Amino acid sequence: MFDLIVKGGTLPDGSTADIGIAGDRITAIAPTIGAQAGQVIDATGDFVSPPFVDPHFHMDATLSYGKPRINASGTLLEGIALWGELKEIVTVEEMVERGLRYCDWAASMGLLAIRSHVDTCDDRLLGVQAMLELRDKVKGYVDLQLVAFPQDGFYRDPTARDNTIRALDMGVDVVGGIPHFERSMTDGAASVRELCELAAERGLMIDLHCDETDDPMSRHVETLAYEVTRLGLQGRAAGSHLTSMHSMDNYYVSKLLPLMAEAELAAVPNPLINITIQGRHDTFPKRRGLTRVKEMQNHGIPVGWGQDCVRDPWYPLGTADMLDVAFMGLHVAQMTHPDEMRRCFDMVTQVNASILNLPDYGLYEGAQASLVVLDAGDPVEALRLRPDRLCVISKGKVISEQARNDARLSVPGRPGSVRRRHDPSETL
Ligand code: FE2
Repeated sequence: MFDLIVKGGTLPDGSTADIGIAGDRITAIAPTIGAQAGQVIDATGDFVSPPFVDPHFHMDATLSYGKPRINASGTLLEGIALWGELKEIVTVEEMVERGLRYCDWAASMGLLAIRSHVDTCDDRLLGVQAMLELRDKVKGYVDLQLVAFPQDGFYRDPTARDNTIRALDMGVDVVGGIPHFERSMTDGAASVRELCELAAERGLMIDLHCDETDDPMSRHVETLAYEVTRLGLQGRAAGSHLTSMHSMDNYYVSKLLPLMAEAELAAVPNPLINITIQGRHDTFPKRRGLTRVKEMQNHGIPVGWGQDCVRDPWYPLGTADMLDVAFMGLHVAQMTHPDEMRRCFDMVTQVNASILNLPDYGLYEGAQASLVVLDAGDPVEALRLRPDRLCVISKGKVISEQARNDARLSVPGRPGSVRRRHDPSETL
């Protein structure tokens, strides 16, 4: 007996199956499940995927665009300054309310796990209080993993070091940092060392904003890989952005990538933001601002796409849709081969889940019963159309449903509706 059966969907491997759910677990996957269920979702011809995962976000700032003013230059540095102004006037209640609105929106898009950096450069730690409260409020349907993030510099800000440690004591999950924003390369490297030691002492994961700059001499990722290996943090560490790598010397990168692979260091580029914010000091030719995605993958380095921002001091747009993120990444990294496009889909699902070390993630018997039904036939079509999420199931419960939405066409002699999808029987 099942509480819920999702019937006839196409799984990421191309097979068609029924998925039986009891409680919060997937308890059966088979070509046909004949048993009764409390609820049946017909996913015939639709694509059924494990939920989307965002490995890099700023929940404390989201949906604040325009407060107290917009980012006129569009640069990272004006965004940081603007966020500093907003921090002076923001309240815990407002951050919780914005976060709740965002999590509801994300859940409706099938985005059910989010790693969010929370700014610790505030002696009152209002953002930390708000995000811990939010993590608790949404835990029934969205897994929120928090990173203690000293936005203004672990050493550069006079109280950031103490406040970051306080945030970890309060229950923030992951150690964060921003070495390229410290006063000097030396300070940046020292911050990487101390932050890795903090993670090792406390048995935590670490995820640094690392080398988010166009400066090819910003090489903190080398120190991060070194410290991760020295301290045994393999598989628990990520470098976010790593944009400077796009302009590094090729010989140097040929040494760097094996060191990153040895450290089992994951990389989290954020294509919507990187293409928007980087290269702002360039004239022409103008750099794309994205790190070396395919080259890292060719060395066995896990690379996941992150979203970073939705309507905040750094980015005026955003949709809570990880397919939009992967779509931009696919273009900027030129990943247009069918195998590369499928990999882009995996990056916003399986790979991101592994970066967060999410337990029981995926579509298999015994896994947590979380999935999304998309109005598409397969992963590539999902990327092409970024279609409606017909049904989202989180921890065994249907939390969002949406009617299939074809366009009505009024052209004499032509069919009355337009389907954006190709025939599901067509395969790439
Ligand atoms: Fe970020």
